[in-house]
Amino acid sequence: MDVVVFLGAPGSGKGTQAKRLADSHGYTHLSTGDMLRAAIREETTLGKKAKGFLDRGELVPDDVMIGLIEDRFGALPKASRVLLDGFPRTMPQAEVLDEKPTTEVGLAVHFKLDPEALVVRLTGRRTCKQCGEPFHVKFLPPKKAGICDKCGGELVQRSDDTESVVRTRIAVFQKQNQSLLDYYKGRKILRDIDADRPVDVIRKDLAALLSSWFK
Ligand code: AP5
Repeated sequence: MDVVVFLGAPGSGKGTQAKRLADSHGYTHLSTGDMLRAAIREETTLGKKAKGFLDRGELVPDDVMIGLIEDRFGALPKASRVLLDGFPRTMPQAEVLDEKPTTEVGLAVHFKLDPEALVVRLTGRRTCKQCGEPFHVKFLPPKKAGICDKCGGELVQRSDDTESVVRTRIAVFQKQNQSLLDYYKGRKILRDIDADRPVDVIRKDLAALLSSWFK
């Protein structure tokens, strides 16, 4: 499998880019945030365990997350190309991926963006209730207010996109991030991407990076 991880703060644009690349380049997009929100909506055991952590902007414990991601990888065909969005978030999560040849990470992309820009992006984000597509009231507005361009679903604000929870999420991210960057830099597979540019410009750069990396 070609496994690519998207690293970066909440709101740096990982999900926006992963969804586009999955559609245009045949990658399987695995978003742990989307998986957890689906589990919460469906009121599964996982959802009940995870809800409080998401509401507070804290990380769900490693054992829960590692079990979840192992299950998802186990269900994929061997030849898949995978974009991992939101995982790993901690060193134990990163190490688990590299323990098996089938999930070993081949490229880590770090989305770089100023923390104040993150707050504006997240508090203005609106997400499709049906397909999860993210929009932004100012930067990426839908063609019709409140309606998803992709599937016609209703756009809502995520409950963890309030300013106080957003600030907690950014602080949690900053505590863990440097170790992950050092880890992938040590493996010589880390590439930075300037996330403070228009969505389509970033998408083109990422597409070019992925094609040249996995020749
Ligand atoms: P998760 O859903 O993964 O949230 P996150 O990492 O906080 O990332 P976001 O989805 O908020 O941001 P993004 O970078 O995808 O930005 P987006 O593309 O939407 O995790 C949620 C929670 O689940 C965590 O807090 C934790 O509790 C739990 N969790 C998940 N994984 C876990 C793990 N591995 N371990 C433990 N706990 C875990 O863009 C943001 C906004 O900006 C949008 O409005 C978008 O339209 C706009 N935008 C995007 N790109 C641009 C651009 N280039 N220019 C202008 N606007 C843009």
